[in-house]
Amino acid sequence: MSDHQTLRPVATRRLATLAVLLLGVGASQARQAEPSPANPLSTPDASGWVQTTTPGGRIDRNNAFFQGLGSNGRSCDSCHRQAQGWSVTPQELRQRFERTSGMDPVFARVDGAVSPLADVSSLEARRSAYALLLDRGLIRVGMPIPANAQFRLSAVDDPYGYASARELSLFRRPLPSTNLIWLTAVMWEGRETFTPFNPPMDAGIDVQNLRSSLARQARNAILGHEQASRAPADAIIDSIVEFELHLVTAQVDDRDAGRLNEADALGGPAILALQRFWVGINDTLGNDPTGDAFDERAMHLFDSWDDPGQSGSDRRGRARATIARGEKLFNSMRIDITGVAGLNDVTGKTVIRGSCSSCHNAPNIGNHSVPLPVNIGIADAGRRTPDLPLYTLTSLATGKRVQTTDPGLAMITGKWTDIGKFKGPILRGLASRAPYFHNGSAATLADVVDFYDSRFHVHMSAQQKRDLVAFLSAL
Ligand code: HEC
Ligand code: HEC
Repeated sequence: MSDHQTLRPVATRRLATLAVLLLGVGASQARQAEPSPANPLSTPDASGWVQTTTPGGRIDRNNAFFQGLGSNGRSCDSCHRQAQGWSVTPQELRQRFERTSGMDPVFARVDGAVSPLADVSSLEARRSAYALLLDRGLIRVGMPIPANAQFRLSAVDDPYGYASARELSLFRRPLPSTNLIWLTAVMWEGRETFTPFNPPMDAGIDVQNLRSSLARQARNAILGHEQASRAPADAIIDSIVEFELHLVTAQVDDRDAGRLNEADALGGPAILALQRFWVGINDTLGNDPTGDAFDERAMHLFDSWDDPGQSGSDRRGRARATIARGEKLFNSMRIDITGVAGLNDVTGKTVIRGSCSSCHNAPNIGNHSVPLPVNIGIADAGRRTPDLPLYTLTSLATGKRVQTTDPGLAMITGKWTDIGKFKGPILRGLASRAPYFHNGSAATLADVVDFYDSRFHVHMSAQQKRDLVAFLSAL
């Protein structure tokens, strides 16, 4: 943790120009290539086309990212696929399973199976051993209860008979290995970030810190997921970090609305690569280092499509108007935020009158602009499905008990109040990488919207839900 740096204005200014300098944004990126089957930068997805840009205008398939560096034949590309927004979908995994009878390297017992001891000796055995990977694209992250924890594991209900305090099985979705330049926390609970998570909410991550975080992440991925016996040379790690740090991904074309950067709209990866950003930008709690107040209009990609005159009344025009309405709802639809650890307790407010952008505040990117993991309840016992382990934790101080499928940040800090906290991920390229949330519990973007509607009692109309989904699909 030696090279952690807290945010200072100088670091801030550096970050503001970061995307332009580091991504080498130039002619190749400003020109958005036409999405087509012939263009290797774009691939079809659930609602149109997703596209990745790089400064050189091509994906370097010779990079170590695509090479097996360990003992099980896996590479980063086993779980981070360009065509799936640099995550991986159950649909593609099922195709890989059928094609290889479950022998593709991604199907490795260490963390691809429901238990590292699962029977994988026959095709049918493999089908059940890899059920969570095939159903929801979940990888098993094994972690011990930290030694200093303020709680103990008082009961385990693991359908696969493996988990214990020595190693909890936490089933999580691969986060996209793209758009990394805007990360403020690395991994779902931020464990690979070099910055302390709490309490200082203004602690940031500068370029050096981000590179160090990603280097450590890559090294651990090679030792863990790829089962290497020792860490590869620093030069290899650096080349992987350099590669992934330059990827920018977003939806570029919508089946109904057409090109997402037409008629003055700002969708697509070429414009995203130019996005202004610094740690703390548009901070909800007033900690933007520039002193600017929080603006709930965090997303302003499709303002120009809000004009019925311009959109027209044809199918395309109506689709554009729908997306624009969804963006407005994202920014301003009232959500009474209650019971969110990391937010309501930190601010001392039982009810925060907010919106989606209260938490997804980084302009046009959609993650938290500070490392602020919060608990919105995805891992709550009440939402547990029988195929996930359930853990009962007991507070050493008070004897209080809580049940969860994933303690999240508490597995790193050992703090009782950090149970169930996860970061708000970047919201670009969503349509290419269902399912959503850390445990893949939302199969579609409509399920995501339904979750928020019931969790925060928003009472959205069917029309509002459709508008929001259309907007999220266009990111
Ligand atoms: C077996 C599947 C698998 C392989 C192989 C794999 N990853 Fe991942 N990756 C994951 C999962 C799962 C997560 C999320 C884990 C978590 O947060 O607990 C993740 C998270 C990440 C993140 C964090 C992104 C963010 O938003 O915080 C990066 C970056 C990343 N991986 C890069 C890599 C690189 C580089 C390699 C190769 C050296 C690699 N991964 C290999 C499954 C994999
Ligand atoms: C109180 C903070 C908060 C609010 C309000 C909020 N989110 Fe989230 N959002 C999060 C967190 C935290 C996660 C990750 C949760 C997890 O996986 O455990 C998340 C995850 C998501 C994801 C999944 C991304 C992925 O890669 O899996 C989507 C999509 C999303 N939010 C959209 C929305 C929309 C739309 C709204 C408004 C209706 C909204 N959020 C309101 C905090 C919030």
